[in-house]
Amino acid sequence: MEFLNKKIYFIGGKGGVGKSTTSSALALVLAKQGKKVLLVSTDPAHNTGDLFHKKLDHGKIANVLPNLDVLEINSEIESNRYINSVKENLAGLVKAEMLGEVHRQIDLAAFSPGSEEAALFDRMTQIILEESPRYQSIVFDTAPTGHTIRLLTLPELMGAWMDGLLERRKKSNENYSNWMNDGEPVEDPLYEKLNERRLRFSKVRELLLSKTATSYLFVINPERLPILETEKALKHLSSNGIEVETIVVNRVIPDQADGSFMAKRRKNEKGYLERISEIFNGKKRIHMPLLDHDISTLADLQDFAEQFEFNIGLVKNS
Ligand SMILES: Nc1ncnc2c1ncn2[C@@H]1O[C@H](COP(=O)(O)OP(=O)(O)OP(=O)(O)O)[C@@H](O)[C@H]1O
Ligand SMILES: [Mg+2]
Repeated sequence: MEFLNKKIYFIGGKGGVGKSTTSSALALVLAKQGKKVLLVSTDPAHNTGDLFHKKLDHGKIANVLPNLDVLEINSEIESNRYINSVKENLAGLVKAEMLGEVHRQIDLAAFSPGSEEAALFDRMTQIILEESPRYQSIVFDTAPTGHTIRLLTLPELMGAWMDGLLERRKKSNENYSNWMNDGEPVEDPLYEKLNERRLRFSKVRELLLSKTATSYLFVINPERLPILETEKALKHLSSNGIEVETIVVNRVIPDQADGSFMAKRRKNEKGYLERISEIFNGKKRIHMPLLDHDISTLADLQDFAEQFEFNIGLVKNS
């Protein structure tokens, strides 16, 4: 099935709707098909390790089940790592007496808006480029909507920002050449570094915008706010060239739920389910039932994954 043949999956959605559960279920289904899968959690409030009942070290890939590896990354730690790598890159290029000031500037930049996302995106880029030869699929469990959107549209911003920087760099290099070297071009190691980075970003960007390589899933619940927030997120993504094809409608009240309380809830839910089919018309929708318990053991997760597999139409009803 085409849906299960993607290289990269992004799972987004509002807080608490079931993103981590769905990401883990999807990763399990893919692994069960014999694919080697890496599940990456970028959520600051990690629970992927808990779901698989395995203690995970930040930033270290761990094997949790046959064919299934898990990696948790954290934007704050990535941000520090990123800043340190920038400092290291500059260490040999800046005059020793300037280093203190340069570090001060970099530390200031680290507090500017978007820098954690930039660092996280840098790490995701690295994972996609470095790990994709080893894995058939990489599943990204992301932090709640707003955060995710910025991350996913970052390559756009990054492109513009990077081009400006490169352009300025090139100009200053030309001036420098005129002054210093009778117009002979001089090597600019920073320019090389920036250009290298830009090439990496554009490679990943191509993958993220390719419908055959990447699939975006949004998880919602049949309730007002998750629907509104996701509708907005999808518009924003679409205007950035990313089309979300699949919506997982999680926590749909099952038919067997009885009692007048449930009957009332179901009636309330019906309106939302109708709105969902209007708003997300044309998208693939996978319904997942509300369970009478949370998904806390590995067996629970495996049951959920089985149901998920069934619901995406993989297993025929016999
Ligand atoms: N269909 C379901 N039926 C019952 N419980 C569910 C269902 N889906 C998810 N849950 C439970 O709801 C809680 C939240 O799910 P999950 O952690 O997957 O959400 P999330 O979107 O990743 O949250 P966050 O935004 O905090 O990362 C968990 O305790 C999970 O076990
Ligand atoms: Mg989560």
